[in-house]
Amino acid sequence: MVGDPVEAEGCRVLVRKRESGFKIAEGGPGKMGERLSGKVALVTGGASGIGRATALAFAQAGARVVVSDLNRTGGEETVRTIAGARGEAIFVKADVTQDSEVEALVDQAVAIYGRLDCAHNNAGLLGTPFVPMGDYQEETWDRVIAVNLKGVWLCMKYELRQMVRQEGGVIVNTASVAGLIGGRFGAAYYASKHGVIGLTRAAAVEYAQQGIRVNAVCPGFIPTAMTAPVLRMGAEAEAQQRARNPMGRLGTPEEVAEAVVWLCSDAASFVTGHGLVMDGGLVAQ
Ligand SMILES: NC(=O)c1ccc[n+]([C@@H]2O[C@H](COP(=O)([O-])OP(=O)(O)OC[C@H]3O[C@@H](n4cnc5c(N)ncnc54)[C@H](O)[C@@H]3O)[C@@H](O)[C@H]2O)c1
Repeated sequence: MVGDPVEAEGCRVLVRKRESGFKIAEGGPGKMGERLSGKVALVTGGASGIGRATALAFAQAGARVVVSDLNRTGGEETVRTIAGARGEAIFVKADVTQDSEVEALVDQAVAIYGRLDCAHNNAGLLGTPFVPMGDYQEETWDRVIAVNLKGVWLCMKYELRQMVRQEGGVIVNTASVAGLIGGRFGAAYYASKHGVIGLTRAAAVEYAQQGIRVNAVCPGFIPTAMTAPVLRMGAEAEAQQRARNPMGRLGTPEEVAEAVVWLCSDAASFVTGHGLVMDGGLVAQ
């Protein structure tokens, strides 16, 4: 069932081949397994949290998935989960802050699957979450902006080139409610996510005539490795996060993934330059 690992310039690629369709999709609701049938989808930050959920959802919707992350162990685990459900996926290690690694990532996706239809630029980090702006460290600033903002631009740079060659494609960037409103103790995170919204809109306008749609998702608080330090502060901290939105609960990675799949599908064919908010009503207040 499992293909051979492929060594390629700077990237070890684990190939897993689909045998006969995707089991999870069978008997699922609606047209699951068909929405992205025949498509090739890339997700960065696919080793964990929202990115892993999107990778699984892409596969469940019928896409062949390129899972990328800095974290090889987690990324390969995502691939194993997809393969275990008879989906098709490969892992390509790449640091989204490095131009040459991102170029190689997109090259690998195209070399193996022939094209790139959908991309979820999702890799990101929080930085130091409890530090006021006046005490924020320059190195934290530089790292957060490099991963969350420059990384999204670098991914789009090479994805757009490929999508122009193919005359079409869809990109979804992970922004955040932190890209829409301000907040305490995360200067670079808020700035980076506002930047992702700007990049998304700029790309949507630039490439609309070339058959390429570019959108963003703006999740509220989702329990993942990134937000674990907040939840580790205890029940009161979690209750505070719940109380911030009218629905009074936290979101799930799967809820974000579902939105990404929808934005990538033909059901969203007239949607571009949009930041889709999923936050239990937080920013509606
Ligand atoms: N969890 C939330 O509440 C929340 C809310 C809004 C937006 N987001 C955004 O969602 C995205 C995913 O976060 P998550 O919550 O799933 O966290 P996560 O920590 O579970 O996943 C982030 C992934 O990004 C990877 N990554 C980090 N730096 C990288 C780099 N330089 N190159 C490649 N991969 C790298 C990590 O290895 C990790 O697997 C982030 O952009 C985050 O800002 C999260």
